[in-house]
Amino acid sequence: MNAGRLVILGATGDLTGRYLLPALCELLAGGCLPPDLDIIGVARDRWDDQEFRSHASARLDRHAGGESRSHRDALVRRLRYVAGDVADPAVLRTVAHGAAGPVVAYLALPPAVFAPAIAGLAAAGLGSGNRVVVEKPFGQDLASARDLNALLDRHFSESDVFRMDHFLGKQTVQNILGLRFANRLFAPLWNAEHVERVDIVWDETVALEGRAGYYDHTGALRDMIQNHLLQLLCLVAMERPGGLGEGPLRDAKVDVLRSVRRLQPQEVERHALRARYTAGAVGGRQIPDYAAEPGVDPARGTETFAHATLFVDNERWAGVPFGLRTGKALGRDCREVRIEFRPVERLPFGQADHPGPNVLTLAMDPDRLVVDLALNGAGDPFCLDPARWQLELAPQELSAYARLLLDVIDGDPALSIRGDEAEESWSIVEPILSAWGDGAAPLRHYPAGSEGPS
Ligand code: BG6
Repeated sequence: MNAGRLVILGATGDLTGRYLLPALCELLAGGCLPPDLDIIGVARDRWDDQEFRSHASARLDRHAGGESRSHRDALVRRLRYVAGDVADPAVLRTVAHGAAGPVVAYLALPPAVFAPAIAGLAAAGLGSGNRVVVEKPFGQDLASARDLNALLDRHFSESDVFRMDHFLGKQTVQNILGLRFANRLFAPLWNAEHVERVDIVWDETVALEGRAGYYDHTGALRDMIQNHLLQLLCLVAMERPGGLGEGPLRDAKVDVLRSVRRLQPQEVERHALRARYTAGAVGGRQIPDYAAEPGVDPARGTETFAHATLFVDNERWAGVPFGLRTGKALGRDCREVRIEFRPVERLPFGQADHPGPNVLTLAMDPDRLVVDLALNGAGDPFCLDPARWQLELAPQELSAYARLLLDVIDGDPALSIRGDEAEESWSIVEPILSAWGDGAAPLRHYPAGSEGPS
């Protein structure tokens, strides 16, 4: 059933302005936003509808410049605003009053406010039968994720809970399933017998960009690896699901997460690395030392770069390392999944001639499929040269947030994270978090604009 009202809790924050409003505008422009869906923002700022609309309009100018002015204005005209505490049942009751269908409460809030807001929704009668969207990271650690799940369980049924991971709305991420399960070419090779290693890389040139309030309490491991990169690992490593509905797809991902070997405390230093950027330049732009950014407490030791090597201990993947790497303020953007295949045996050319392994790269943003091969090149026909087969993928029709928001409005949770998935993901990163918390591994440094720590 389509939602009747979308209530954005945290409507004046960065996430709403940067992702949600542009996604809503995109849906409106594409004719996918139900015309009778009310959209109400809630936040503490003592604004009226008009002030919120001017704020939203400025955010859309900045983050949805690709949409036409008339679509941006049409969305802004539909927005309403209620000032108040997002956890106050009286405020939430006012916001829900008169809704013509289920209310979707989108928690665009810092993780510390998730629990009070969920409790407030329940107290306002907006539990079961309505929907709630919880942004990532889902909690701060395994214990808080369990508490949140227990709270959600008490008031909502699982299919009404949307734990958001916008990576699942990316076309190329979804394409991992098509590539793997719809092509005989790759399916027989997709295992430890043929794959040497898998690298999942999300290197970003963006630095802190004013997000200290969130990021300095979160860090790269919680911000990216616990959720986005583990989801990519799931799609690469999972068995063929019985279907693409919410049950089979999420069951298959949970099976992978359960099979990921948990690191022992003494293994963390060898398998996980953390680092933080110092002053430098990215593409000609001066980036200050992370520790000197306003709002950062250097004593927290927050990492802006994390690398973890994990192993999926099942028959398919035994012994294959999965490297998960992400960092901010790096010299170049690189977002990709690389599958490196083992060398061929008994090469008739002499092993020394081989130009390198076969690598299948799924690059994102721009979306591309790249296959590195060794072929007989020009000149000596018995000499191998590297060759590259590259396929540009069509640009994504709907952005990731727009796609997932549409699922929420339609009530389809297949591409959101199930409660047990979130807990398994936390239990994978938990040994790393606690070892780092105990100072078990040094926090290294890298200059902004570099390739990261050596
Ligand atoms: C967000 C993280 O979830 O994902 C950001 O909080 C990160 O730190 C972003 O930059 C990366 O996603 P995308 O789609 O912008 O590449």
